[in-house]
Amino acid sequence: MSQRTLVLLKPDTVRRGLVGTVLARFEAKGLRIVAMEQRHIDAAQADAHYAEHVERDFYPPLRDFVTSGPLVALVLEGDQAIEVVRTLNGATDGRKAAPGTIRGDLALSNRENLVHGSDSEESAAREIALWFPHLA
Ligand code: CMP
Repeated sequence: MSQRTLVLLKPDTVRRGLVGTVLARFEAKGLRIVAMEQRHIDAAQADAHYAEHVERDFYPPLRDFVTSGPLVALVLEGDQAIEVVRTLNGATDGRKAAPGTIRGDLALSNRENLVHGSDSEESAAREIALWFPHLA
């Protein structure tokens, strides 16, 4: 079943010059880029995106991180895109993510883990509407 999912290439991806490397992995897998934009978000947009995490202890430094520089937001489309992207991304903690995944190969942090991918159909719908309202 074709799905759409919201992906963020977080500020560490941009800062480290890995946008092309990470995008190439999604494209090579066969996922199609439906929309893509580089943005430098403010705290309100970070809070809206991470609404379910704003009360967590790890959130204040996460908010500082995601607002620390430009990121690239995109919508990817393809068969089972939500799960496929999360598999490509690997486990949240880059130190534990499996080799062969984006985080496993390129990240060494639980916070600065390069990528975000929607975790369910409900999250994808909410996040796509938040980042790209014209696609909702
Ligand atoms: P993401 O997939 O964007 O979803 C929530 C984000 O919070 C996660 O990636 C990490 O960047 C961050 N995160 C999750 N758990 C922790 C943690 N224990 N410590 C620091 N950052 C975390």
